[in-house]
Amino acid sequence: MRELRIYTDGKPAAVLKQSLLLISVVFMVIPAIVSGSGLTAPPAIRRILWLMSFSGSALLTALALSVWLLSRFSPVEGLKIRKKLILFTRMFLHSEEDGALRHCVRWQYGMENGRVKTILYPNGLEKDTADIARRLSEYLEVTLLKYEEADRRACCVFGCAPERYNGLQMMKEGIAGWTGSDKTGRSYEPVPIYDGVVWDFVSEALHILLLAPSGAGKTCLLKYLCGMVLNRGHSLYVIDAKNSDFGMLFRQAGVRVATTTGEIIQLLTELVEEMEKRYYTTFYTYDPAVTDFKEKGMQGHFLIFDEILSVLSYADKDDKKEIERLLGQLALKGRAAGFSIVITAQKLNAADLPKAITEQCQTRIILGQMVSDETFHQATNMYKKDVGSIYRGDVGKGYAVTPKTGGLTYIETPLLPDDTGECLAVLRELGERGKPYGEGR
Ligand SMILES: Nc1ncnc2c1ncn2[C@@H]1O[C@H](COP(=O)(O)OP(=O)(O)OP(=O)(O)O)[C@@H](O)[C@H]1O
Ligand SMILES: [Mg+2]
Repeated sequence: MRELRIYTDGKPAAVLKQSLLLISVVFMVIPAIVSGSGLTAPPAIRRILWLMSFSGSALLTALALSVWLLSRFSPVEGLKIRKKLILFTRMFLHSEEDGALRHCVRWQYGMENGRVKTILYPNGLEKDTADIARRLSEYLEVTLLKYEEADRRACCVFGCAPERYNGLQMMKEGIAGWTGSDKTGRSYEPVPIYDGVVWDFVSEALHILLLAPSGAGKTCLLKYLCGMVLNRGHSLYVIDAKNSDFGMLFRQAGVRVATTTGEIIQLLTELVEEMEKRYYTTFYTYDPAVTDFKEKGMQGHFLIFDEILSVLSYADKDDKKEIERLLGQLALKGRAAGFSIVITAQKLNAADLPKAITEQCQTRIILGQMVSDETFHQATNMYKKDVGSIYRGDVGKGYAVTPKTGGLTYIETPLLPDDTGECLAVLRELGERGKPYGEGR
């Protein structure tokens, strides 16, 4: 990363440039006048005049070249960004006179794979670094892909938003090559969601909390994640309390789907028992070499819970408590044993779900245009009043917060076809592969 301190208001640099320009012009003009006057100068003077003319043109060329290289039209990307940061700072950010110098913000910047990374040190001059990031994105005419506030600085990544993944294609990946014993093989490879954002099965980011208003793409993202769980050869369980097409799709594909409160509690109880059994038989004695289910080559159990609040708000008090207790167990103890929960809700207030559940969901995703302050806070742990100005959500578009990526990382969810028949065909194909997701049906 290169350092950029904007010390002056630009006047000394302008004076220097003008002086050099004047010198170069004088050096070029004097020999021209002498030779134009028809006087015959002695050879020593002629040599001096020639040297003057040569140095004048060289200085002028060097000056023109350096002005162009350091301008916002520079062919060198790093220099172009440098100039744009200087102009942006002078035009839009505060600075204070500090003797002959200026007290100003400080930047670090760098280019990586066609993206611009900046770190802004506001130095006590700017309050709203998120707003600066948004305005800089507009000024540079590139998307703000990542924003993270740290101690006394704000880190941003700007660049063109990459293409969305083809969800169906990703689900199908590898199907053609599966033969014989491979058929039941399983993988723990992280599931790509967008750009650098992945769902890592063997990390603290195993559990997911997905928040988005109605129609913003929760169920589509869940379908993709479900398909990828099957693709990786793990057990899948679906809770669809709305009894919608989502549950129907997976039921048709042979996945266990719970819809009524009774079925949900039954499913959760079985999963918790299975998890306890696994702990008792596999992780009972401490073995430093075996820290999680991957080390044992065990199958993961993935519970996808769509619209959790529609269950909790209608279940009676005891059922609600039991569901929360069981989910809390899975959230708290599931990681090492390979039990994952993925929860969605349209909105979430602090009192809607116990912290024991939400705090364990370290992969947070928020999608859609209209998200309330409280939901935004629950999803990102940040306050909309602080960073909300950079939020640009839409259908299938929003932000992810994971322990690995930190901050707010822009995402667009993998695309799925409108035709559910196509999805079903792929899900069935994954089932026919001999996957054990039908277990316990
Ligand atoms: N990843 C995607 N690929 C293709 N279409 C999408 C995607 N995400 C959202 N859509 C479009 O948006 C519509 C709504 O998406 P979805 O049903 O997933 O939203 P939702 O958040 O589950 O809504 P609800 O809260 O009403 O259940 C879909 O029918 C689809 O047309
Ligand atoms: Mg839905």
